[in-house]
Amino acid sequence: MAKIIDGKAISAEVKVKVAKEVAALKGQGISVGLAVVIVGDASASRVYVNNKKKACEAVGIYSEEYALPASTSQQELLELVDRLNHDGKIHGILVQSPLPKGLDEAALVETIAPQKDVDAFHAYNVGKIMQGKYSFLPCTPAGVMELLHSAGVEVCGKRCVVIGRSDIVGKPMAMLLLHQNGTVTICHSRTQNLKEICREADILVSAVGKAAFVTGDMIKPGAAVIDVGMNRNQEGKLCGDVVFAEAEKVAGYITPVPGGVGPMTIAMLMKNTVTAAKLQNGILP
Ligand code: GUN
Repeated sequence: MAKIIDGKAISAEVKVKVAKEVAALKGQGISVGLAVVIVGDASASRVYVNNKKKACEAVGIYSEEYALPASTSQQELLELVDRLNHDGKIHGILVQSPLPKGLDEAALVETIAPQKDVDAFHAYNVGKIMQGKYSFLPCTPAGVMELLHSAGVEVCGKRCVVIGRSDIVGKPMAMLLLHQNGTVTICHSRTQNLKEICREADILVSAVGKAAFVTGDMIKPGAAVIDVGMNRNQEGKLCGDVVFAEAEKVAGYITPVPGGVGPMTIAMLMKNTVTAAKLQNGILP
């Protein structure tokens, strides 16, 4: 049976470290601040944003939430981001994705000051990650790396397979595994022989967004299986991409959903916000 990688416990450890750093910065007269912008009323986004707010309170980060109606214009959002870029109380700006139809999310993200881009979605930060010289890492892939590290899963030299090629997870995930000297394959909806490729993986990361996508027969015995999926099954229950009951019999390590990657994403956001405050106060170069 696979060892469960407990994202709740590991994220709690990260948050304890972050809280200490927040307190130390407060001692230097710096109150760390995060602004979260949410547009429209997508219920999943609402849950994520509430969790982010709670995490800020838990680690002592000042937070502002801008919950705007779906009718908000691109111009109004651009003005808000511009104001937050110049707001000394705010070190991190996060625009919750997805935005309602008709709004240009990519264009908006490019107006966030790179030093306040705690999602690491801005082209400047994406480029830095490609070069391996980054200040921020996108929260979910960074959280996955932390989970692997905490579980003692060595990446160097291992066969790593990432299913999914999104800008938020798949692409940066592959790059971070590569930086740790993994041998990385990215699979996607057009991949042929997906099962055979997955079966070679020592580390399998699924970021597809489809319930029951990864079955037990796609997993190499002893592999580390990381489930980034956040789906609802037929009964409306939260589940990942991986058929957990099958996978845990084959894998060496596995993350549950909920309680795996999800809490790590938020912990890494807290960490990035502290990094942003340090960058803006000349504590980090
Ligand atoms: N929506 C789902 N995950 C994320 C995330 O990590 N950042 C932002 N901004 N929006 C999201």
